Amino acid sequence: MLFSNNAFSYYSILQIKMTYDAMMDYISELDLVLQNIGKARGLPNANYITNEAYEEEKEALIFNKWAGLAVASEVPNRGDVVPVIFFELPLLLVHDKSGEIRVFLNACRHRGMILIDQPQNIKGAIRCPYHSWCYSTEGKLINTPHVGGPGHNTHEDMRKDKLGLREITSHVWRDVVWINVNGNQKNFRSTIASVVERWADFEKPLYHGGKDSRFDLLVNCNWKLAVENYCESYHLPWVHPGLNTYSRLQDHYNIEKSELFSGQGTSLYKQIRGKNDEKFPDFRGISKKWRDCAEYLAIYPNVLLGVHRDHAFSVILNPQGPEKTLEQVNLYYAQKKTNRKLRKKNLTQWKKVFSEDIFVVEGMQRGRHTRFFDGGKFSPIMDGPTHCFHLWVASNIMGNRERKNEN
Ligand code: FES
Ligand SMILES: [Fe+2]
Repeated sequence: MLFSNNAFSYYSILQIKMTYDAMMDYISELDLVLQNIGKARGLPNANYITNEAYEEEKEALIFNKWAGLAVASEVPNRGDVVPVIFFELPLLLVHDKSGEIRVFLNACRHRGMILIDQPQNIKGAIRCPYHSWCYSTEGKLINTPHVGGPGHNTHEDMRKDKLGLREITSHVWRDVVWINVNGNQKNFRSTIASVVERWADFEKPLYHGGKDSRFDLLVNCNWKLAVENYCESYHLPWVHPGLNTYSRLQDHYNIEKSELFSGQGTSLYKQIRGKNDEKFPDFRGISKKWRDCAEYLAIYPNVLLGVHRDHAFSVILNPQGPEKTLEQVNLYYAQKKTNRKLRKKNLTQWKKVFSEDIFVVEGMQRGRHTRFFDGGKFSPIMDGPTHCFHLWVASNIMGNRERKNEN
């Protein structure tokens, strides 16, 4: 009797297990992400380590969205141009002669030669080094030497007005140059409206702190892990013990806006001070709330922003493949002229904080190579902002697949 009972239990469990496996085949791993936080799993390993997932996300989460490319401060003067590789796409950031910031494909309309390979100031025209076709900084094709034979710079089949540089839709906000590569999004201001509303007090001129207010970090992780780590405060006590001495875990709050951003705030922001107690000036006219509060938002997909009463920063994540990400950090102030030593101290402080995060994002990346890791389990209380991002990733990938299947 005992034996047959055990046999029955074993058989039943086996059946349940087989049903479960079949069910799991049916439900994609992304479906498991799209559950409430108490039940959801994190994104599957493949989304952090495979070329296939990286390429799929490039289309669904980057080129189909407004994403951060660079900062406008990189091209401060008219005629400045900077080549940027963005998700393997060669682009050209341009401050044109009329004062506009523009983004073009960095490829000649003739034979596709890369036009610019070093940052520089263009005095005359953007000249292709191959056969010398020339473009204005506004992207117009203006000269095609010998195109109709030696000594003939025109030809009836050459419609210059149809052969300008391919322009990428762009918009500058908070010094970040945002681009929508596929040109399929509604305009930037309406897309970003809820962030602008939240941070209305900070819609003021931002002054980049100059050469001593930017730094890059190259980290061995998928770009999404940098977003996920940035938007939660759960890790602060262990990863940033210095910050935790004055802004403890319980002084932080989660911020979640599905489809656009998530992050965290502190209600105990402490201003940086110099030897003689000097401080940075505040942004003018900000409300009392910001005397003690500071907020940190990951604007999906790849821009991390922070605001404080006296300074702000942006981090643009520029992936170099599925497992490597360049983080470009820039610091801003409320006035053009600020104390140089204090700026340096602030830069050092932020460099330390962002560097402290490297071992965790790289450690999580290595963890994604463990095939038994199942995406992970969220804390229903502490991991809301990360779960919010995972929902956005999974739902946009699935939406993109559906659109492809329809076409
Ligand atoms: S490829 Fe640029 S002019 Fe020929
Ligand atoms: Fe951190």
